[in-house]
Amino acid sequence: MNNLSHDLDKRKNIISNALNDYVPVVFPEELYKAARHLIEAGGKRLRPSVLLMAAQTVDPKIAIDTIIPAAVSVELIHNFTLIHDDIMDADETRRSIETVHTKWGISEGILAGDTLYAKAFEVLSYTKKEPDKVTKCLRLLAKACLHICEGQWLDIKFENNRDVSEADYLDMVQKKTAVLYAASLAMGGILGGGTEDEVHALWEFGIATGISFQIRDDVLDLITPYEVLGKDRASDLTEGKMTLIMIHGLKHGIKLDPSKLTTENEIDEAIEALQNAGSIEYAMEKARELLLVGKSRLSVIADSEAKDDLLALADHMISRVH
Ligand code: IPE
Ligand code: IPE
Ligand code: MG
Ligand code: MG
Ligand code: MG
Repeated sequence: MNNLSHDLDKRKNIISNALNDYVPVVFPEELYKAARHLIEAGGKRLRPSVLLMAAQTVDPKIAIDTIIPAAVSVELIHNFTLIHDDIMDADETRRSIETVHTKWGISEGILAGDTLYAKAFEVLSYTKKEPDKVTKCLRLLAKACLHICEGQWLDIKFENNRDVSEADYLDMVQKKTAVLYAASLAMGGILGGGTEDEVHALWEFGIATGISFQIRDDVLDLITPYEVLGKDRASDLTEGKMTLIMIHGLKHGIKLDPSKLTTENEIDEAIEALQNAGSIEYAMEKARELLLVGKSRLSVIADSEAKDDLLALADHMISRVH
């Protein structure tokens, strides 16, 4: 685990420096400052990290410089989705600072997000690999963005809808969250010159672990204070989000009305009820199952240090505390 955090930090620093270079502040400065607001606040940089790891699993000697633009592009897409997600979820904090639309306004937030969205594809085109590989990545990333729109659409349509099933939830989170992980991993595999089987395995690993990641995110929303998470506490409850936890809770007689969850006390009681019904543990159990499925998908990939890092990161994705 210590080795993993060391390797993650190394990759995170490479990405953070490159992000700085690729998104300079130009006229109108305030637009670019808004676009860079969350990027500068940090974040775990997991998607670009797995892209680099995936490339290293299929080509341990790959020159990292050549694929840094691709890694930056997936982090830019991620940050674009976060800015727009915070508008949709009416959240005021992220990465321990104000969200972009809270600081600049909703129209400005939409534009800051769009700026990163466009920038991502520009930066991806600077990847120093064969054009056919870069084109494949471009297609994968564009398709991932379509899936994110579909997933986010479903996420808001599911709000306060008691008919949402577990299968509906899994489909929705696969689209809104797991597909970007899967695309990052597959892009790394393609750029590293992996075989079709290897790229497919990396994709499948990303889908399963990406869903576990979102389930853990839903759990953290409930059990982690703002001081640790850096995001609005229990935002999913107050927005009436249909998480696996809520779906389980509903089946066990817990009916929560978001309009009656306004005080800290009311929120604490709601979380306690979900805890007592075993809903949080139920969701974590599902996350653990999917983690095992995901890890087994990597069996077609040769052992390497990068593969060990990917497997360790998968464990971290569901044990993480923020
Ligand atoms: C948050 O992603 C959005 C989800 C898909 C749940 P992360 O938890 O990776 O956010 P950062 O980048 O570390 O802030
Ligand atoms: C976000 O899911 C998924 C995205 C595509 C951004 P959430 O709405 O749960 O993410 P957080 O909790 O706000 O980071
Ligand atoms: Mg959100
Ligand atoms: Mg959301
Ligand atoms: Mg969340």
